[in-house]
Amino acid sequence: MRRIEVAVLGVGYWGKKIVDEYSNIPGVKVKAVSDQLDKNLEFCRDRYKVENLYHDYREVLEDDGITAVNVCLPNVLHYQACKDALEAGKHVLVEKPITLSSQEGRELVEMAGERNLTLSVGHIYRFNNALLEVRRLMGQNFFGKPYNMNFVWMNLEPAFPDRDVIVDLAPHFFDMVNFIFDSWPSRITCVGRPYRRKEMEELAYITCEMPSGVLANATLSWLAPRKVRQIEIVGENRSALIDAVGQEVTVYESGYTYKLGIERNNTIRTELINFLQSIGDPSTETRNSGTIGVRTVEMIEKSMDSLRGGRTVDTGI
Ligand SMILES: NC(=O)c1ccc[n+]([C@@H]2O[C@H](COP(=O)([O-])OP(=O)(O)OC[C@H]3O[C@@H](n4cnc5c(N)ncnc54)[C@H](O)[C@@H]3O)[C@@H](O)[C@H]2O)c1
Repeated sequence: MRRIEVAVLGVGYWGKKIVDEYSNIPGVKVKAVSDQLDKNLEFCRDRYKVENLYHDYREVLEDDGITAVNVCLPNVLHYQACKDALEAGKHVLVEKPITLSSQEGRELVEMAGERNLTLSVGHIYRFNNALLEVRRLMGQNFFGKPYNMNFVWMNLEPAFPDRDVIVDLAPHFFDMVNFIFDSWPSRITCVGRPYRRKEMEELAYITCEMPSGVLANATLSWLAPRKVRQIEIVGENRSALIDAVGQEVTVYESGYTYKLGIERNNTIRTELINFLQSIGDPSTETRNSGTIGVRTVEMIEKSMDSLRGGRTVDTGI
């Protein structure tokens, strides 16, 4: 890989992980970071020797030496930061969700296309070897006719002031539904509620009907003390339980249970390398493309329509 200088905008919880992974990829230099908080900037300077530290991310974009930026800012800033970065000619990997509205996301996809710039979204589970294997097996009819999918993403989190649990976790759900079944839901039903505050859901259940008849259900919670990142696929011939963090796949078949031999990978590193490789060859759609990101936001919008309207919503697919 040729030498490349990158920057990370927003070095809070997730941005620090990105800086850490970049610093272990040969040929990559994190030339600048941006954050409102001094302690986050100083952390990157002290631990990773990042030389250029800015409070205002727009200053990063003025540096012509920087080829690509990762946007790890709060969701509400994704649209503007990506727009500014694309206008400055930078390739962008933005964290999920790409934007808060699908209209904004479509604008960014268009901008990137017009400028021949890569726009990828942090749909990290597309780079997870366990899920890649399950997708491969689905394509080979390993499960027989698939019946349903249960997606359980729960753990105890504070009531984040800037987001609800649907916007935070449903991007992974819709992304995985698409990744595994190669299609998008045609009907969505969503219920949810806040518990520790008056507004913004902290627990939600989303049920999707796929065009094939598969039902996919998500349990999304910030209230449960037990951390779970689990996907269950139930099929006519076989079923599988996937621990997405441990990258373990347990198969259930004719009364027998066995684990698949999965070679675990560092998903963030794989995602970053995929992003860097797409640079310079923008005709290559990354597997976590902006278009996929926009689709997931459309599905979130339909989920919110269902939640607010107390009804099942057709997605138009
Ligand atoms: N892919 C994943 O699995 C995953 C996991 C966690 C978070 N994320 C995403 O990463 C993003 C950030 O989440 P987080 O948990 O790291 O949040 P965070 O609050 O820990 O980090 C955001 C950082 O942005 C900084 N910031 C805010 N406004 C700024 C501005 N105007 N200019 C510069 N810096 C500013 C804050 O000081 C903070 O350090 C979100 O979009 C989130 O959805 C993705």
